[in-house]
Amino acid sequence: MDIAAIKAQIDTEIQKVDSLPALEEFRVKYLGRKGLIAQLTASLATIPSEGRANFGQQVNALKNTLSTLIAEKQKSLTTATAANVGGAVDIGLPGISQELGRLHPLTQMIDEICLIFVRLGFSVVEGPEIETEYNNFTALNIPAEHPSRDVFDTFYINQNLLLRSHTSPVQIRVMKSQKPPLAVVVPGRVYRPDAVDASHSFMFHQIEGFMVDREIRFSDLKGILKLFAQEVFGKEIKMRFRPHFFPFTEPSAEVDISCIICGGHQVTRSPGHQEKHCSVCGGKGWLEILGAGMIHPNVFKNVGYDPKKYTGFAFGLGVDRIAMLKYGIDDIRLFYENDLRFLKQF
Ligand code: DAH
Repeated sequence: MDIAAIKAQIDTEIQKVDSLPALEEFRVKYLGRKGLIAQLTASLATIPSEGRANFGQQVNALKNTLSTLIAEKQKSLTTATAANVGGAVDIGLPGISQELGRLHPLTQMIDEICLIFVRLGFSVVEGPEIETEYNNFTALNIPAEHPSRDVFDTFYINQNLLLRSHTSPVQIRVMKSQKPPLAVVVPGRVYRPDAVDASHSFMFHQIEGFMVDREIRFSDLKGILKLFAQEVFGKEIKMRFRPHFFPFTEPSAEVDISCIICGGHQVTRSPGHQEKHCSVCGGKGWLEILGAGMIHPNVFKNVGYDPKKYTGFAFGLGVDRIAMLKYGIDDIRLFYENDLRFLKQF
C-alpha cells in the first residue's frame, strides 16, 4: 500500500473536518479498532521480511502524524465553538443580561403629581432656575424688607439675578405672557442656602399650581387640592386648611393631610407593644404638605390683570417632602447621593 498516497488523502480530509462529530468520525476511520492504521499493522505479517521494518516505521510515523493532526484540529474546533466563530452556537449558554435604567424617584413623583393636574385640565410649564429678583420677590408682592430677600436666605448671583428660591415666579412669567383663563402647574428645582441635614437641602423640588379666571373661588382650590391628596395618598386621607400668611396670596393657608402613618390618631401601636406617640407626625395627627391661597390683587396688578375682573388661586408644594411621606423616607439626602441600593427600590 502506498503510504505517501494515504498521507496526501489524510491531509485533504482533515482540512474538510469542520465539527467535533466529524473529527470523531475521522479518528475512528484512521485510528479506530478497525481503522486504517489497525489494518496496516495487521498487514505487516504479509510483507516480505526485507521491507517489513521500513514499512512498520512508516505506519508508525503515519499514526503519530494522525494523532498530532487530530489534537490540533480538536483544539481549533473547541476555541472556534467558544467564540461562536464558524462552530455551532451553544444556545444553552446563559446570555449577558443588560440592566434597565429607571427614572429617579423624584422624577417619578413629579410626573405622578403633574399627571393628576393634567387630567384636571392644567398645562405643565417650566421656568428658568436663574431668575430676576423682580420676578422672584417684587412682582409677588414680597416687600424689600422681607427676611426671605436677605442674602443669607437666597443665593444671589448679582444685584438683579438669583437662583430662584421657589417656583412662584413662573406665575409672573405665565401671567405676563398669557391671558386668563389659565390653569398651570410648574415643576422645578429651587435653591436656598440652608445647612444640609435630614430634612434640608440647598436644592430641592417644588410644584407651583395656579388657576385664574372670572369667579375662581376658594372652594375650587379646596376641591382640587383634596382630589390631588387623595390621588397621591389614598381615598381615606383627610385634609385641613390652617390660616397662614403669604405675601402673594390673600387669604392664605397652610394645608395639612391626616398623618399617613397613624391616620390622625396621634399614636402608633405595634403588635404586642404599648401605644406610643406617632413619630412621623410627632403626635399631632396632621402633616403639612403645602401652602396655598387666593392670588393677591397686587400680583394681578403687577402682571397687568384687572383684579376686579379676575380671581385665582395658587399653591406651592415640596416634591421631596411629599415623596418622603409617601415612601417613608426619613432623610432627604438619600435623593441626592446616587446610591443604587436606594434608587433601585423605586
Ligand atoms: N412659594 C412658597 C414657598 O416656597 C409656597 C407657596 C405658598 C406657593 C403659597 C403658593 C402659595 O403659590 O399660594 O414657600
